[in-house]
Amino acid sequence: MNTSEGKKIWLVGNSGMLGKQIEKELTKNNVEFAASDREVDITSFNEINDFIKNKNIDTIINCAAYTAVDEAEEKKEKANKINSEGPKNLAKAAIKINAELIHFSTDYVYSGEKKGKYTEEDKTDPLSVYGKSKLDGEKNIKNEMDRFFIIRLSWLYGVYGNSFVKTMVNLFQTHDELTVVNDQKGSPTYCGTLAENTVKLIRDNNRNYGVYNYSDGGEISWYDFAVRIKKIADSIDKFKSNVSIKPIPSSEFPRKADRPKNSVMDKKKIKKYLNFKVKDWESNLIEYFKEWEKINYEGI
Ligand SMILES: NC(=O)c1ccc[n+]([C@@H]2O[C@H](COP(=O)([O-])OP(=O)(O)OC[C@H]3O[C@@H](n4cnc5c(N)ncnc54)[C@H](OP(=O)(O)O)[C@@H]3O)[C@@H](O)[C@H]2O)c1
Repeated sequence: MNTSEGKKIWLVGNSGMLGKQIEKELTKNNVEFAASDREVDITSFNEINDFIKNKNIDTIINCAAYTAVDEAEEKKEKANKINSEGPKNLAKAAIKINAELIHFSTDYVYSGEKKGKYTEEDKTDPLSVYGKSKLDGEKNIKNEMDRFFIIRLSWLYGVYGNSFVKTMVNLFQTHDELTVVNDQKGSPTYCGTLAENTVKLIRDNNRNYGVYNYSDGGEISWYDFAVRIKKIADSIDKFKSNVSIKPIPSSEFPRKADRPKNSVMDKKKIKKYLNFKVKDWESNLIEYFKEWEKINYEGI
């Protein structure tokens, strides 16, 4: 039964990597939705208020965010406004119209000091301005409302927009040798499976609100990820290359923002309470390349 019938969704941030994928999935499932990106600035409560008027929205899905992790170190105010004030405004609006909110957060809320997998109950202690701004966004939502799903993601990639996968495939074409860090452990999150899970969550009318971790299954380093991407790229004529990939410690690849050394997240909670399907990262990567081909390797 399609329990989303009669439900009206507002997809916020529909021009971003995840937003575009969720838009595609909503359309495929005949779910009625309104969508916006920059034209409704989430840092302005007035703009939000004007947009939602008379639309009978039941569910707000927020994919809008400030995601430039390194740049955020110097643009703290901007990052905070979008990632912390933005979700607060959306939560306030949701309360006003009696809607629920699905919001995406990040593994960067964790410090990475833990030896094992992170559960939702573990201490949050972000290392970066971006991580802190996203955590403040989570806190603002919790302070405003009860009917929310906050879903923490890691290493997101998809067929739309830029991602590590596209960056690697591009670099394979122009370099003889690449170095990739091998001392940061985590799991990629493929937007395709995430979008399917998100739309299913809406259709199921699930009410197990709360904070959840989500990513693909398995745990790898960025180096492992790059090596696997190369293997698939080599099976595609236009991406075949002789590049060699060498593992390096993150100390040899300094960046403005620190990243957690370990951000492997435990997914038991989201599997149990939201019925999210967690596919292993390798099969999702294969799936990704198939989907990417369908849109002529957009972004390359
Ligand atoms: N990308 C990752 O690796 C990653 C990892 C973990 C978690 N996440 C989280 O996953 C979610 C989706 O990320 P994504 O990579 O799909 O993001 P994205 O591609 O950067 O998309 C975000 C969208 O939000 C828009 N936006 C920015 N400020 C806005 C504002 N004030 N009002 C309305 N729209 C605004 C952006 O427009 P402009 O492009 O014009 O700025 C963009 O279209 C985010 O919550 C992010 O924090 C991402």
